[in-house]
Amino acid sequence: MDRSYSNRKKIGLNPKVIGMVMLMATWIACQPAKEKSAEERANALLKQMSLEEKAGQMTQFSIEMILRGETPFKLEKPHQLDTIKLRKVLVDMGVGSILNVPGNTFTLAQWKEVSEALYKYRMQTRLKIPVLYGIDAIHGANYTVGATLYPQQINLAASFNTDLITEMATYTAHDVRASGLAWNFSPVLDVARNPRWPRFWETFGEDPMVAASLGSSMVKAYQMPSEEGLPGVAACLKHYVGYGDARSGMDRTPAYIPERQMREIFLLPFAKAIEAGAQSIMVNSGEVNGEPVHASKFFLQTILRDELKFEGITVTDWEDVKNLYERHKVAATYKEAVAIAINAGIDMAMVPLDTLFTHYLIENVKEGLIPMSRINESVLRILTLKFKLGLFEQIPSFSDQYDSIGSKQSKDLALTLATQSLVLLKNSNNALPIAVEDKILVTGPNADYINALNGGWTHTWQGRDTTYNSEVPTCLEALNRLKGKDKVVYLPGNTYEQCLPDEQLLLAAKNVSTVVLFLGEDTYTEKPGDIMDLELPEAQQHLIKIYKQAGKKVVLVLLQGRPRTFSKTEPYCDAIIFAGLPGDAGGTAIAKVLIGTENPSGKLPFTYPRYAGFHLSYDCKYTEVLNKDFKPLGFDPLFSFGSGLSYTNFTYSNFTCNQENYKFTDTITMHVSISNTGKMEGSHTALFYSKDEVASITPSLKKLRAFKKIHLKPGERKNITLQIPVQSLAFVGLANKWLVEPGDFKLSVDTLVQNITITNK
Ligand code: BGC
Repeated sequence: MDRSYSNRKKIGLNPKVIGMVMLMATWIACQPAKEKSAEERANALLKQMSLEEKAGQMTQFSIEMILRGETPFKLEKPHQLDTIKLRKVLVDMGVGSILNVPGNTFTLAQWKEVSEALYKYRMQTRLKIPVLYGIDAIHGANYTVGATLYPQQINLAASFNTDLITEMATYTAHDVRASGLAWNFSPVLDVARNPRWPRFWETFGEDPMVAASLGSSMVKAYQMPSEEGLPGVAACLKHYVGYGDARSGMDRTPAYIPERQMREIFLLPFAKAIEAGAQSIMVNSGEVNGEPVHASKFFLQTILRDELKFEGITVTDWEDVKNLYERHKVAATYKEAVAIAINAGIDMAMVPLDTLFTHYLIENVKEGLIPMSRINESVLRILTLKFKLGLFEQIPSFSDQYDSIGSKQSKDLALTLATQSLVLLKNSNNALPIAVEDKILVTGPNADYINALNGGWTHTWQGRDTTYNSEVPTCLEALNRLKGKDKVVYLPGNTYEQCLPDEQLLLAAKNVSTVVLFLGEDTYTEKPGDIMDLELPEAQQHLIKIYKQAGKKVVLVLLQGRPRTFSKTEPYCDAIIFAGLPGDAGGTAIAKVLIGTENPSGKLPFTYPRYAGFHLSYDCKYTEVLNKDFKPLGFDPLFSFGSGLSYTNFTYSNFTCNQENYKFTDTITMHVSISNTGKMEGSHTALFYSKDEVASITPSLKKLRAFKKIHLKPGERKNITLQIPVQSLAFVGLANKWLVEPGDFKLSVDTLVQNITITNK
């Protein structure tokens, strides 16, 4: 799709254009002669470099290494740059990259100070090579005070709205650049197949095609220059590859993935995002089939470089070179770990808190344990990226050319995205929308808690600091404002693990007809988010049960990063909204959906399990469902992939394909009409599946092949036409290669089905 300039325009640079002309002129004047490509310039520079300078380029430090105070994590506050450390790191060691924030978010002015310092010390080096700064701006520029915070990726996927996601990535790139940074560690292209995994919510869900499609759109939008010619940021695909499928469900634990599934499920999003031009990749901290990915020539060279033709840079994840020795035990020493990782194909090490990596890298090369050709290859890639991003020409005031952050338009976008990401999973007994005159009780640990809207990577790593979003309305505040304080009773005191005594719970609900429960999880990411049990804690489920038994309508809003199971109390809920992590605008979006001024349109981008101990994805195999004669019944999730109701009705008709028989090289054109037969306008995503009737590798029940979101007024009908190449029906066959087999297929959308035949002629 068009990553349109019109989106860029909405950033609204125009008001400042005049003031910027001079800055632009300075920048243009600094541009090198146009005829030399980034690669040529990088090559010329590489030839002048010493081994020590090259090793510096391959080193990435956390910002703490240039801040006052002890490293790690015992920093002086407020954070101050340390001139002695700056000289050591940037001039003496020539470190090529810095990452992260020192504990919490920076203002634009603080970021500016960082840029100025990096520039000042870089100019004191022999070759004046700029520093490439990396940041986890995964849902907006979440480490810059004042930037708009959008929904997390799992919600973006639920919105199924490629255009809005593209727009969001465009704004994010702008805000990251306005902070003086040029490298974004986003998007996450792991495929979430284990619901216990604490990074489930950082993904686009369980479907590889959805991750490939939305991920590629984000990559293009991040990296695209603005209409005014200002550069975007380099995207970084995370975490290559197989990270999302740890067998234990715990972060950074082993995955066992056969090559066929690896290619068909986990590699696909990376392959597509590389085709879309992704400039960097971060490696999976875990091991796959017993081999840490950081040590894997198969993944880092054979697949990534030889097959996928990736030309960008490969950066490790946090401490993962050292981890080959300390955690994975595939190296006897740190020094050996450095040789293993670099020889496997790593270009840059996120060290990030010691100077030993650089030291051992140099020693290894001097001792012939790492060939200079391997070093040159990596440094060339790093320098090329720096040239492509325009870093050599940029002075710290360069970032001033990017207009203000946190604009009204970006906030509106965040609200629209949040609204479109809410998934109405159940709505019985006219529970929703809540009637204007109805009085409600609001309770639950997430009712009045901003962090629960945003999750991790929000101002801090774990997202537990509310210093910078005190203006953001919680769900309770938004309901008070939009429904009216006189219609809302609030009962504080119910936590994730403990609820108030029954008498107190019931007393609070005495005069209300509906109880809205905001349940789910506190914030987390990575290891701190590991859980032993997927079940929603008992205390929270008790709230559902007690209020239903007291004759109230129970509306459940789940603010959580993964599908916590609650099948025993689900029948007690009249309505359920999966709200995920909708970001700063989430409170308002949820309140609007609850009172019916907005119509929900999200669809589940994952399968919601019924049982904590039994989970399958929607594209499971026949033997996993055909279990009719025995108990248990097989695949029977609580909510299927693609679930999502609306306050209106959408009716499908006239599903056709342009032919019955197709050749391998053909494209299938599908048409369908969708009508809004209800009373409210609304958006709707049509999901197109295929089913391979018979195949040499057991086929899945169905596979998602395309999706399209539309908006319809009451009574309106729209025709959708979508094209998919026959090759997109391929699977990875016995020889571990993608192939389409001739035979019969079913294509379906909603309940409509078309039979087609593929011939090999
Ligand atoms: C995470 C990455 C992140 C990096 C830098 C790691 O611990 O796994 O996703 O980009 O830290 O913050």
